[in-house]
Amino acid sequence: MTSTETSAEHMGTTLSEAQIAVHWREEEYLYPPARFVAQANSADPDIYHRFSEDNFPECFRDYADLLDWDRYWHTTLDSSDPPFWKWFVGGRLNASYNCVDRHMKKTPNKAAIIWVPEPEGQLTEAITYRELYRRVNEMAALLRDFCGLQAGDRVTLHMPMVPELPVVMLACARLGVVHSEVFAGFSGTACGGRIADSGSRVLITMDSYYRDGKLLDHKVKADEALEAAGKEGAQVSKVLVFRRHPGEYRSANPMVEGRDFFVDEVIGRYAGQTVEPVSMPAEAPLFLMYTSGTTGRPKGAQHSTGGYLSYVAGTSKHYLDIHPDDTYWCFADIGWITGHSYIVYGPLALGTTTVVYEGAPAYPDAGRPWRIAERLGVNIFHTAPTTIRMLRKAGPDLPAKYDFRFKLMVTVGEPIEPEVWRWYHQVVGKGDAVVVDTWWMTETGGFLGATLPGVKPMKPGSCGPGALGIYPVIYDEEGKVIDPGSGRAGNICIRNPWPGIMQTIWGQPERFVQTYYAKYNQDRASKDWRDWPFLCGDGAVQALDGYYRILGRIDDVINVSGHRLGTKELESAVLTVPEVAEAAAVPVVDELRGRVVEMYISLKPGVTGPSEVEEKAKAAIETQIGKVARPRNVWVVPDMPKTRSGKIMRRVIASISNFADVGDISTLANPDVVEGIRHQVQSRKLQRNEVPRQLTQKELEEIRSYGTAE
Ligand code: WT7
Repeated sequence: MTSTETSAEHMGTTLSEAQIAVHWREEEYLYPPARFVAQANSADPDIYHRFSEDNFPECFRDYADLLDWDRYWHTTLDSSDPPFWKWFVGGRLNASYNCVDRHMKKTPNKAAIIWVPEPEGQLTEAITYRELYRRVNEMAALLRDFCGLQAGDRVTLHMPMVPELPVVMLACARLGVVHSEVFAGFSGTACGGRIADSGSRVLITMDSYYRDGKLLDHKVKADEALEAAGKEGAQVSKVLVFRRHPGEYRSANPMVEGRDFFVDEVIGRYAGQTVEPVSMPAEAPLFLMYTSGTTGRPKGAQHSTGGYLSYVAGTSKHYLDIHPDDTYWCFADIGWITGHSYIVYGPLALGTTTVVYEGAPAYPDAGRPWRIAERLGVNIFHTAPTTIRMLRKAGPDLPAKYDFRFKLMVTVGEPIEPEVWRWYHQVVGKGDAVVVDTWWMTETGGFLGATLPGVKPMKPGSCGPGALGIYPVIYDEEGKVIDPGSGRAGNICIRNPWPGIMQTIWGQPERFVQTYYAKYNQDRASKDWRDWPFLCGDGAVQALDGYYRILGRIDDVINVSGHRLGTKELESAVLTVPEVAEAAAVPVVDELRGRVVEMYISLKPGVTGPSEVEEKAKAAIETQIGKVARPRNVWVVPDMPKTRSGKIMRRVIASISNFADVGDISTLANPDVVEGIRHQVQSRKLQRNEVPRQLTQKELEEIRSYGTAE
């Protein structure tokens, strides 16, 4: 008996696997206000023609021309060695020059970076382009002369959200040194693996930083990192340690003589020095960004200088609508690709003012982001659904209490539920801001799918059409194109190369080809880029209007009796229940149905009566998706286990629901909630006699890595 027969028998209905997306309701369009359109960088629909396939790849000249080149390129795209594309070949430029020097000449006294420390009593720091120029030059001199670094060397950074981080990145770029920033919330061990993989001889870190009201000891991780890197045979000769409070060391771990140096002590030697920006070939790597692989060696996405910088500058201009006089705040961490592309490189390449905030979104309360926006006059705001949900949960009415006005707001990182989208638009955007849902990933350098804000209407829950010059396609498992408007979901790919695409996985070119191209490439010998669709790793569905709805990573599906239920659609359905603030769906192994769904929810403040909510959540799924998806249990928990970047750790709650070991929870932002949830859920399951049989190895692997797919 096949699984489809099983389900037909049990449910009295037959659905094909690919039908998962038909459960989504089509949402209404919302149009950008005329006031926005009148000032937008691009308001002429003809731009889509300029970026049409007929004009590929020359269309991307537009983006590259936003930069200053030391030498103009002769070949826009060299595709002779697929899938190792080369952009703007023959060109030479320096990223630090483009983000600093050229603006310093025109607007020396304009703020490049405004830094907001987490403690509200500490003063905000505005760093002008001239001051940024000084700091970057002095740091570059230190890296070159004190550390002996030169073009092509790699350096690992393990830095929190302080202005020293972009300064160090730009100082590396000035020398042609490849930086590899590891998110500060990652453990020392994770950092060590990345040091070893990249072959860095220098680690740059900080003694401590503020997060959620606490000064965290960060230097301790540097020692763990070096130990872990050492086990992999890596040799780190110098550790540069910034001090959060210069002159005061705030870590329990001692400095290691001859290896560790305080930057504030050494930098004085380089005061006032300038370093000539090294003119780099367009294809020289600018940085590595490791993606969180669950198994195996970490994957260092290698991004180029010319292609990458062009792409983030161009997309910042058209999609973030950044003008030089805007105050732009991207509320992400520079330790992620979002921060590299859309806090540092894109905005600074355009010479705007970019805000960097040190701490947690809701510290000391959920009004903090709105106070920052009000005080600094932020007019472009950029954050992730997880933060939006959290702010909506903790202070649904707070934005109205502050006097700020956003012209444009961005959401990025995961699909946003239409309910949450509407709160963002109406309450944070005060009904007046344009919302741009930007879909992309670490590997792609910049946006892949989004609405061009002055041209296309918004549709909650859909990212929009392909970005300019990006031609997506959705394939089924066999490589057949799925028609737009068919309501069928499949694997979304990008048919063409674009300047922001990663160059390779650092040191693992074969894995690069395997991971991103092998699935739909028919002929490895082909020299035609059309034979090399890039596999994004997301499931998606395209509506008749060409807009894409992203369903999440391909592996984030729960297969109930042969029905592939997207985690996101389940969660979106539950979020239509007014009391619910957050929802996470996980699979539970079931003898009869393969997997059943369990739902974890947290409630908005002041809401009581969980049993009623449980029933409402089940009913919402049943009506919006179908009986097949009805969760066996709905667990109302006080708080979800989350990573430091705010993603719900579905693997932890999935393990709890399946009585499996929760694994390593040391990287969670709130590891202390896990035990309480485990007790709550497992004691009820024991009472209800819902303990699953011993799981097989394969099942255990699925559960323990659920929601963490590469
Ligand atoms: C995955 C990539 C892009 C920078 C931050 C995350 C999901 C990202 C959206 C969006 C729906 C989205 C995808 C993608 N994702 N943006 N607007 N709508 N899903 O980078 O850690 O490399 O994660 O994030 O599943 O594959 P990342």
